[in-house]
Formats: sequence, C-alpha cells, structure tokens
Amino acid sequence: MLTFIDDYLDEELLRKNKEFVKESVDKLLKDYEGFLGWVDPIKPNLNIEEVLKVTEEIKKEYDCVLVCAIGGSFLGSKAMIDAIYGELYNFKISPKIIFIGNSLSSGYVEEVFKIIKGYNTCMVVISKSGTTIETSLNFKIFKDYFLKEYGNYKDRIYVVTSEHKGYLRKATDEEGYKSFLIPEDVGGRYSVLTNAGLIPMAISGLDIKEVLRGANDLYNKIKDVKYEENPCVRYALCRYLLYREDKNIEILCCYDSKFEYFSKWYVQLFGESEGKSKNAIFPSYLTYTQDLHSMGQYIQEGPQNIFETTIDVVSYESDVDVNLISKDYTELNECSFNKLNKLVMKATNLAHEENEVKNLTVQIDRVDEYNMGQLFYFFMFSCAVSATLFGVNPFNQPGVEKYKDILEELVR
Ligand code: PA5
Repeated sequence: MLTFIDDYLDEELLRKNKEFVKESVDKLLKDYEGFLGWVDPIKPNLNIEEVLKVTEEIKKEYDCVLVCAIGGSFLGSKAMIDAIYGELYNFKISPKIIFIGNSLSSGYVEEVFKIIKGYNTCMVVISKSGTTIETSLNFKIFKDYFLKEYGNYKDRIYVVTSEHKGYLRKATDEEGYKSFLIPEDVGGRYSVLTNAGLIPMAISGLDIKEVLRGANDLYNKIKDVKYEENPCVRYALCRYLLYREDKNIEILCCYDSKFEYFSKWYVQLFGESEGKSKNAIFPSYLTYTQDLHSMGQYIQEGPQNIFETTIDVVSYESDVDVNLISKDYTELNECSFNKLNKLVMKATNLAHEENEVKNLTVQIDRVDEYNMGQLFYFFMFSCAVSATLFGVNPFNQPGVEKYKDILEELVR
C-alpha cells in the first residue's frame, strides 16, 4: 500500500487553493482527453493473456533477450526490474535481459556483441514513434547480427510500437514480426503500465498482473475522492506551493541503490512533462546513503532552493544484522542495515530541515510488484496534475525536437 506523507498542507492552504486545484484537474481531464489512456490502468491491457503467452514462449526458447528502447520506452521496465531483483538482476533471472538502444556508445555495443556470442538471443524493440534514432540504429545492427549469426532474424524479433505510425510499424507489417501495440492515447513517459513496460517485466519473471492490480487499486481509490483526500493531488499541490516559496529544485531521495533507475524514470517523467516554461521545478535525484558523502554537503549548507521527496520502504525482504561501531571503532548496540538506514533517513531529514529543506515522503509497504505498480501510478497521476497546475501541457515535448533538427542539418 502507498501513503503520501507531508506536514506541509494545512486546512488553510487546502481551502485557499480549492478552486484553483479543482479547475486544473477539470482542465486536465477535459483538455487532454486524447492523452489519458493510461489513467485507467486496465484499459490498455486487455491483451494481457496474449502477452503472458508470448513472453512464456520467449522465456522457454531463449537464454538472452535484448530490449532495444530509450526514454519512456526503456526507463520504466528497467526501473521495475532493478527495484525488484536489484542491479545484479542478470545473476538471478533467465533469460538474461540486456538493455540496448539507450545511448550511442560504440563501446557498449561492442561489449554486447561479445557477450551475446554464447547465447541464444532474441530482441524486443520498443518505440512508440518507431523513428527514434538510437532505437532504430541498434535495431538495425542487431538484426544484421542475427542474420549473420543464425541465418535468419524474423522469428527472433518482437516489436512493441504504435498501430499506424513510423518506420518500425512499416517494417513490422512488411517483415511479419510478432508485434504488440502501444495505445495512441498513451505517451512514452506514461507507458510503463502498457505493453511497453510490461513485456520486459514479464520476460524477467515478474508478475505483471500484480503490477496492474497495484496501479488499479490506487486508481480506484482516488478516482472519486475529494481532492484533499487524493494523495496524488496533494503531492502535486505541495510541489506547486513549494515552488511558489522559491523551492525550484526537487530531489527524489531513495535509500537503496536498486531505486536508481526508478529515480531516472521520475526525472524523465517530471522533466519532460513540466520543463516547458520558465516556471518549472528542476527534478533530480540522489541515492542515499552514498550521496550523503557527496551532495549531502551542498544540501546541508548550500542554497535554500531545494526540497526533498523521500521514498520510504517500510520493510525490506532481506536484512543484515550488525553490531554498530562508534567513530573510534568500539562496538555499540546490535542493529541491522535496514534499521540503521531508517535512522539515517530520520537524521537526514532533521539535519536538512535546518537548512530550510522541506521533506515530503512517499511510503510503500515493501518492494514488490503490487507496491511498485502503485508507486509508478502515483507519480504519473501526480505529474499530470502538477504540470496542469503549472499551466503547461503534461503530454508533449516540443523542446526535444530542437537538437534533432540541428543534427539533421549536421549529418547531411
Ligand atoms: O516521453 C516520451 O515521449 C519520450 O521520452 C519517449 O519515450 C522517447 O523519446 C522514446 O520515444 P519512442 O518510444 O518513440 O522511441
């Protein structure tokens, strides 16, 4: 279960902003109707049995799967797989999953070529537009590799793309790849709970029905409640009001490195959704306790334009008991890593408060498919509301086209 905790919104603030929030949420639901396919998490997933059937076949047939995607088509599934299995997931799962297509690093591509040599490999290509340069190039070179290595490629390629648009759709129709759809009314960064995110998750052995059950329970919980009781709207309003107090940097703080990619997903979601006017929060993240030994200094004594949103996991599956040691290395009380991590979280919040750093907390019971489904849904709904409060369209990203236009000129 997910809970949003803040000691920021009081009755007075809620009352003062009631009309503004109501108007913004109404605007979101009315003006962006064609972009809200993700709001009911079950709606885009009526083909779930087919997804489970095909992913089971992939699991039986192959011992390595390349997942070729970038941005919203990549970050969600990677975030989920890392969060549940940890960053060393490939030591735990079969088939192994290697993400490709998310950079133009030739070194990485060469490494992947070497590594997959001994494996029976297939590729899942995910791109809503079907035209993204990193995805298209990697798709092409690994397709050529399949041809050279196995003498065929068609049966080894699975495509997740839009129904009508793009090069990938055209290639799929011409070559007859097995394919799945990303609905037209779901944008890339809101697509983690569609085929785009769920197919890699299912291949890794995660229970995608549980992911959807978590998201759907939160959807059902919030859909008819007053805005004051809606945790997503409350969080969005907190962000907006903090910005009005000159807090223009939000740091997502996670206390486990397995949330690193979840944090990147959050950065992309908010950055691309909100960063389109001069009034926007700069979303960033830190992984504690690691980053307390670096950026901790900046937050403690640097500029006071920061607020933190902490992901608090109530209980972890595993824990390591230790005897604590003092600064001079004498043994103190018995403790455990998780208990200590919680104490560090408390100490960090108290310390940062001294520098006027406000803290918001999103708490989940544990890291499993159900709770992660809620977490993804919470941030997506909050982000759509938050962008609307800031007066921008949450679903487009005109700014990312600029460098592509210049690149087009440069490569001619
Ligand atoms: O949120 C978005 O729309 C983007 O970040 C896209 O997900 C990203 O650019 C990848 O696009 P595509 O899925 O079309 O390859």
